[in-house]
Amino acid sequence: MNNVARASSTSAAGPGRYAPLAIDTDTFRVLGHQLVDQVARLLDAVPQGPVTRDESPSAVREALGLNGPLPNEGVHPSALLERMADLLFQHSLLNGHPRFFGYITASPAPIGMLADFLVAAVNPNVGAWTLAPAATEIEAQTVRWIAELIGVPATTGGLLVSGGNMANIVGFLAARAAAADWDVRATGVAGAGSRRLRVYASRETHTWLQKAADITGLGTDAIRWIDTDARQRMNVDALRAQLDGDLDAGDRPCCVVGTAGSVSTGAVDPLPAIAAVCRERGVWFHVDGAYGGFAAAVDEAPAELHVLHLADSVAVDPHKWLYAPLEAGCALVRDPERLRAAFAYHPPYYHFDEHATNYVDHGPQNSRGFRALKVWLALRQAGAAGYRRMISDDIRLSRAMADAVQRHPDLELTSQALSITTFRYVPADLRGGIGTEEVERELDALNRALLDRLQREGEVFVSNAVIDGRYVLRACIVNFRTQLADVEALPDIVARRGRTLRETRQARA
Ligand SMILES: Cc1ncc(COP(=O)(O)O)c(C=O)c1O
Repeated sequence: MNNVARASSTSAAGPGRYAPLAIDTDTFRVLGHQLVDQVARLLDAVPQGPVTRDESPSAVREALGLNGPLPNEGVHPSALLERMADLLFQHSLLNGHPRFFGYITASPAPIGMLADFLVAAVNPNVGAWTLAPAATEIEAQTVRWIAELIGVPATTGGLLVSGGNMANIVGFLAARAAAADWDVRATGVAGAGSRRLRVYASRETHTWLQKAADITGLGTDAIRWIDTDARQRMNVDALRAQLDGDLDAGDRPCCVVGTAGSVSTGAVDPLPAIAAVCRERGVWFHVDGAYGGFAAAVDEAPAELHVLHLADSVAVDPHKWLYAPLEAGCALVRDPERLRAAFAYHPPYYHFDEHATNYVDHGPQNSRGFRALKVWLALRQAGAAGYRRMISDDIRLSRAMADAVQRHPDLELTSQALSITTFRYVPADLRGGIGTEEVERELDALNRALLDRLQREGEVFVSNAVIDGRYVLRACIVNFRTQLADVEALPDIVARRGRTLRETRQARA
């Protein structure tokens, strides 16, 4: 009988207790080694396979055997784990693939994979210091290190959250509590003595803002969408005019949001000028750096990104440019007391030392996982210099991609900023008509169909953007596994698929 076959769930839990979830130590060790070996093998094979497979939801359900009811009887964990690892790799989109350029999801660092395993073994509840002494202190240092990396004071408050949306929402809630000169937490946004709260952001701002305005009770109509310039950056004169008009009308600005790396094109708003406008009017300045915030650590980033210390709050996203496996966002608030002022309550059922760091008082979550470990370990493994190099390389590769796109006769480059390149397929016969309504309509349809084809075929994975009303393809590199060869392969792959599609559409017309 081998170790696995010998597994006895009853004996693992001890006498007198039936615990089918318990696994004895020897079996645990064998299962763990087998899983790590299998995952290492599967990870090795990722670059040779497709980024994703073209499967229908029902095919995925069928392959994973997900159609049955909840089984009454359990099974041995060995077969379960082995099969699940194979199935997950076969039927998942693999964002660790060197040719995954879609959206802004990082290639996960191996140390983060191992960290999540370690975290689950200890399972600290990082809501309170007493429940998670080591984890709380590591999270606090992670926040300080992140602050240091992006050039904000180490005294900044903050905490790890699920991602960019939540990091922004935490900043937004801190701003809301600070902006209202009535007790907004008790009486709400329309409480006695309230004024209409307003928020200001460019039209390129990510949709977290609508969610924040919605769930915090301001309503999405409270958002003042500020126009952008030709490079998708906020027009600061328009911001100033809107703010002053609203102040004259008696409204209360809640915050101005500047974006440090927009989701569509990587545009960086004129953050120093926005900071000055906020300072002059005493308005909270929040920066959404979910994508581009970490680029503040490198010289290649635009100069306007190197001013995050001017913000009252900043959202960054370690599961983007720190290559942490999902989920890990980070909210930073310059005055740590602002976080407590927005989130703390002191219920009678908690006996927590008020002088210790109890993250339950700093954010919306109560029980909290130890997200910081995967970030801390990765920061420790690569060091600040290692991260600077990886982020710089992503930016350089994106620029190389833009050059390769520009050199290709069938592609039109539309933008390149940070590590995002946008472009579209323009067949020779349509080139002369660019700008005319009919040709633009055909190019939109063609590129939309092309994106669909590329995503389904999985040779490379890109996403899309709409720039000045034009539908374009978009490649974002937050992927330390991507090489120059991957970047240079993209234009031909896209153009080849584009040609086939164009021919099919012409034959159909
Ligand atoms: C600029 C920006 N803000 C916020 C978000 C939301 O981040 P998350 O998906 O981690 O919640 C994204 C995601 O791409 C983003 O690019």
